[in-house]
Amino acid sequence: MNLFKTNPTTTEAWKMLLKKGQDIGSTKIIDLFDSSNNRLEKFSIEFDNMFLDFSKNIIDSETFDLLLKLSEDCQIKKNIKSLFDGDKINETENRSVLHTALRDFNLSSKIGKELLSDRKKIKKFTNDILSGKTKGSTNKKITDIVNIGIGGSDLGPNMVVESLKFYKTELNCHFVSNVDGDHLSEILKVIDPETTVFIIVSKTFTTQETLTNAKKIKEFLIHRSIEDLSKHFIGVTSNIKSALEFGLDKENIFNMYDFVGGRFSVWGSVGLSVSLAIGYENFEKFLKGANKMDEHFKSANLEKNIPVCLALISIWYNNFMNCETEAVLPYSEYLKFLPNYLQQMFMESNGKCTDRFYKKVDYQTGTIVWGGTGTNSQHAFFQLLHQGTKLIPCDFIGFKSSLHGNNDAHNKLMSNFFAQTEALMIGGSMGNGPFRKFKGNNPSNTILFDKVSPESLGMILSMYEHKVFVQGIILNIFSFDQWGVELGKSLASKLLTEIESKNILKHDPSTKNLLDKLINK
Ligand code: F6P
Repeated sequence: MNLFKTNPTTTEAWKMLLKKGQDIGSTKIIDLFDSSNNRLEKFSIEFDNMFLDFSKNIIDSETFDLLLKLSEDCQIKKNIKSLFDGDKINETENRSVLHTALRDFNLSSKIGKELLSDRKKIKKFTNDILSGKTKGSTNKKITDIVNIGIGGSDLGPNMVVESLKFYKTELNCHFVSNVDGDHLSEILKVIDPETTVFIIVSKTFTTQETLTNAKKIKEFLIHRSIEDLSKHFIGVTSNIKSALEFGLDKENIFNMYDFVGGRFSVWGSVGLSVSLAIGYENFEKFLKGANKMDEHFKSANLEKNIPVCLALISIWYNNFMNCETEAVLPYSEYLKFLPNYLQQMFMESNGKCTDRFYKKVDYQTGTIVWGGTGTNSQHAFFQLLHQGTKLIPCDFIGFKSSLHGNNDAHNKLMSNFFAQTEALMIGGSMGNGPFRKFKGNNPSNTILFDKVSPESLGMILSMYEHKVFVQGIILNIFSFDQWGVELGKSLASKLLTEIESKNILKHDPSTKNLLDKLINK
């Protein structure tokens, strides 16, 4: 199978972009509006209920055309087809990458039928819990759910539940991820075991943090005299055998698949807590929003393709303007966990130094993604955006309306939203002296939606997933494995034995000294 791989640095476009990057230094974004009368039209995309304005970037028409050429030279269209066709593009794990199938409602293949039946199972489980048909072991209505998982088995559902809490059902939703017994204890303090369902989410069912917490919860339930554990324990995993060994009932296990990576898994059974938290109908709207973006990504021309344009802009700053980080700034408290979620999506996917020809790369790959909500972040790290020495491209995500109709506060929120992008670009002076000067020319994308909704959140996440994919293809790395997390895991398990037995073996002097401090406490 041809995976359409290209070393981007060998393309003509890459070479020209390198030159462009050196020459563009003094270009002022604001001047670019004057030198081209259709900049806004060319550098914006309207799609469904969203509007993307990427005109406030240090990118002129020629640069943009070169970036598009780069994506063509890297055979982006063929790679997109390969992704959706289920080719084994996750080559180092010999797997397809089909998280998009989890939100596809027109599936006819064998696997498609299985995915549809998973969705039915999620729907039934959700409705039975919410209606009170499914009760706890002492016949009480379920009031709380606790999601136990980490990484992709936590960040997605946790962020989506928080983002969509306006649409909340009466169930209370809790998340336990870290292997931090104190955090778990705090949660167990506030729930009633008789009215709580615990959902263990682990694709591999081998993750130390998750299994430790799950075992602890099992002990807790037994200690609290819960007789029928099957009424309180659900599993979401692709490792059915280990889940059964843990003691889960077969019908309480929801599937995960090897063709869906953890960080892309919220669309399937990992989203069970989302479905419970906002109701199945809303969960389906969330999937449909993402699917809309998938269709757009598959069919839109490159220059009007939202994920492609966002990826190219990012590559421009990362590879030709020496930027190392980019910020995501949602102007909605609902989306406060989005930057965390995106960190895993981007950095676990594209933080690689070996290319798809199995050679070490000699160019930058994954960017560091960080951020926070506006206006809070304005009172924290925006100082550095405005006057620091680093160039940090930003995504500003805003919504036209408040969900509760808080128009007065919303106008203030949005005036800050627009003020920041304008000030970052234009710069200026707030009086005399160098400390009051703002150099401006800081780039940003503005992403505007009507309101926070299951559909718009689905679109946002799918948009970023495809941005990750396009960046991975152009940078010619494997975005869908994560070998980089394994070394630390294996070392931690050896160290645990040493700590428990108080027998510290050979280590570097610093680590040995620190371990001695722990065991001699
Ligand atoms: O260690 C990283 C990782 O493998 C992530 O990719 C994944 O989302 C997380 O751990 C949790 O894994 P699992 O769902 O198998 O418990």
